[in-house]
Amino acid sequence: MMYTLCLLLLFIACFLIQDRIAAQGCPCSKLSFGPGNIVCRCNASYCDTVEPIEPLTSGNFALYTSNSNGSRLVKSVGSLSKSTAGVVVRIDTNASYQSLFGFGGAFTDAAAINIANLSSGAANYVIDSYYGPQGIEYSVGRVPIGSCDFSTHPYSYDDVDGDFNLTKFQLAKEDLTLKIPLIQRAISVSKRNISFFGSPWTAPAWMKTNNNLTGKGSIRGEAGNSYHKAWALHFVKFLDAYKQHNISFWGLTAQNEPTDGNIDHFPFQATGWTPEQQRDFIAKDLGPTLHANGYKDIKLMMLDDQRLLMTYWADTILADPDASKFISGVAVH
Ligand SMILES: *[C@@H]1O[C@H](CO)[C@@H](O)[C@H](O)[C@H]1NC(C)=O
Ligand SMILES: *[C@@H]1O[C@H](CO)[C@@H](O)[C@H](O)[C@H]1NC(C)=O
Ligand SMILES: *[C@@H]1O[C@H](CO)[C@@H](O)[C@H](O)[C@H]1NC(C)=O
Ligand SMILES: *[C@@H]1O[C@H](CO)[C@@H](O)[C@H](O)[C@H]1NC(C)=O
Ligand SMILES: *[C@@H]1O[C@H](CO)[C@@H](O)[C@H](O)[C@H]1NC(C)=O
Ligand SMILES: *[C@@H]1O[C@H](CO)[C@@H](O)[C@H](O)[C@H]1NC(C)=O
Ligand SMILES: *[C@@H]1O[C@H](CO)[C@@H](O)[C@H](O)[C@H]1NC(C)=O
Repeated sequence: MMYTLCLLLLFIACFLIQDRIAAQGCPCSKLSFGPGNIVCRCNASYCDTVEPIEPLTSGNFALYTSNSNGSRLVKSVGSLSKSTAGVVVRIDTNASYQSLFGFGGAFTDAAAINIANLSSGAANYVIDSYYGPQGIEYSVGRVPIGSCDFSTHPYSYDDVDGDFNLTKFQLAKEDLTLKIPLIQRAISVSKRNISFFGSPWTAPAWMKTNNNLTGKGSIRGEAGNSYHKAWALHFVKFLDAYKQHNISFWGLTAQNEPTDGNIDHFPFQATGWTPEQQRDFIAKDLGPTLHANGYKDIKLMMLDDQRLLMTYWADTILADPDASKFISGVAVH
C-alpha cells in the first residue's frame, strides 16, 4: 500500500502543472480604493461566490487564487502532464505535522449590529459568504460571554450583588436580539457543524475587586471561595441559556486576555488573572463545576492572550495536574 503510494507520488513528481482553465462562480464586483487596494462589493442582489470543492478526475488539480487585484478564491482546474522543464515536486507523505481544526470568526454585538443594519438581501449574502457552501465555510465561531469591547456599552448577565447561586442570571437583549439570531442564521446556512466557543471579558462587577466591569480588577479573594464558585457557575448558566436556543458549545476559554484586568485604568471589559490564579481557578472551581453540570466534554482552553505570554502561562498551569486534567489547549492571539 505504502509502496504503491510512493510510486504514484514519484510518478506525479515527474509531471508539471499546465492547462489551467478558470472556472469561476460569481466574480468579485471590484471597488478600488487605489492600486492593490480592492474590495469586492456586495449588495442586496449580488455577491461574489466561491466555487465549491468537488472531487477531481484523476490527473487534474484545482488551484484557488486570491490576490490584491480582486481575485477571491478564484478556482482554476488544470491537468498534470509530462514535462521536460526539469521541475521536480517531492511530497513526503511520511512527514505530517499538526492538523488544522478550522477557521472562524466572532459573533460580537458589533458584527450583529452591522449585519442587522443591512438590507435583508445583503445580510443574507454576508452570512452565506462566511458560512454557506458558496462562501468560505467557516466552521468555528467565538461567542463573547456577556459584553466585550465590541459592545456599545458594558453590561453583565447578573447585577444582583451577592447572588452567588446566580438565580437572577439572564441573557442580555444583545444575546436575544442580535447574537443568537445571527448564530442561528449561520447554523442554518452551514453544511458543516460549526464549533462554537465562549469567552468572557468581565465577571459581574460585584464579583470583582474594583466593583466595575472595566478597569483593573480581579475576582474577589482566592480560588475556591464563593466568588470564584459563582464565577465558575456563570459559565454553566451561559451554556445552559444558549442551549435553550438550540446552540451548543464545543469549547470555552477561561478568560479573554487575562492580563488586561491587571492594568491600571484598563479601558474596556476585563478581569485580571495571574497564571497562578487561573491555574487555581481552573483546578478548584471551573473544571469541577463544568464536570458537575454536564459539560465534561467541553474543550477548555487556558490563556487566550498574546503569544509572548504563552510559554510562561503554559509552564505554570499545565505543570499542575489538578488544573491540566481539565485543559484541552492553549488559546493565543
Ligand atoms: C448590485 O451589484 C451588481 C454587481 O456589481 C450591480 O450590477 C447592480 O447594479 C447592483 N445593484 C444595486 C441596486 O446597486
Ligand atoms: C488587475 O486587474 C485589472 C482589471 O481587471 C487587469 O487589467 C490587470 O491586468 C490585473 N493585474 C494583475 C497583476 O493581475
Ligand atoms: C516513508 O517511510 C517508509 C517507512 O519508514 C519508507 O520506506 C519510505 O521510503 C518513506 N517515504 C518517503 C517518501 O520518505
Ligand atoms: C443602523 O445605523 C444607523 C445609522 O448608521 C444607526 O442609527 C442605527 O442605530 C443602526 N441600527 C442598528 C440596529 O444598530
Ligand atoms: C445556593 O444554593 C444552595 C443549594 O441549593 C443553598 O444551600 C444556598 O443557601 C444558596 N445560597 C444562596 C446565597 O442563596
Ligand atoms: C455533525 O455532527 C453530527 C453529530 O456529532 C454528526 O453526526 C454529523 O456527521 C456531523 N456532520 C458533519 C458535516 O460533520
Ligand atoms: C467604572 O469605571 C469607569 C471608568 O473608570 C467609570 O467611568 C465608571 O463610573 C465606573 N463605574 C462604577 C460603577 O464605578
